[in-house]
Amino acid sequence: MDNLVLVGFSCSGKTTVGRILARRLRMEFVDTDRMIEKSTHRTIPAIFREDGEDAFRELERDAVRRACEKSAQVVSTGGGAYVDPRNQDVLRDGNMVVHLRVKPATVIARLQASKAGRPRPLLEGEDPLGKVQGLMEARRVAYEQADVLIDVDNRSIYDVAAEIVRRWYDWRRPRRAALRKQMTRAATASAPALS
Ligand code: S3P
Repeated sequence: MDNLVLVGFSCSGKTTVGRILARRLRMEFVDTDRMIEKSTHRTIPAIFREDGEDAFRELERDAVRRACEKSAQVVSTGGGAYVDPRNQDVLRDGNMVVHLRVKPATVIARLQASKAGRPRPLLEGEDPLGKVQGLMEARRVAYEQADVLIDVDNRSIYDVAAEIVRRWYDWRRPRRAALRKQMTRAATASAPALS
């Protein structure tokens, strides 16, 4: 409950922006891919290579469920997590879900710029642009289920983070007001009547 969840394609900036948000909002930062690597003591590419995508998705579902057991965190998810309706149900339950939308060309440019960085098993091999376009199209409807849409192309991560901070306060305000009202009502109901 009350988590700020980041979803979107690889290289949309979920982890980098997530860390900035967590610092600014004084919230915990969790990344479901890192949770998987920590609990299995293996890297994501090794899991894909040795056990296949289905096994990875199962670990991912477990990581999403565990992440959402806690509150007041910034939760960064792997690019395919939000596609599974079971993950969507868990991630949307009382949390604000932000889709960082990125164009295929930006993904390719960022992948090339970070060649030595984290490998993305689903985007490796021939025709990476075709792969990105195909996967993105297949995931479009799922990503559209997010509460907030932020376009990230040609913007600095700080600019993106600042917009999300504003949206977070807007999202939280009515929820806080409703909670305050509930607490006042409960306190009034339990107070001894004056005679
Ligand atoms: C995946 C994206 C990766 C990682 C895994 C699968 C995907 O995370 O979870 O390689 O299905 O798009 P990033 O979005 O951080 O690259």
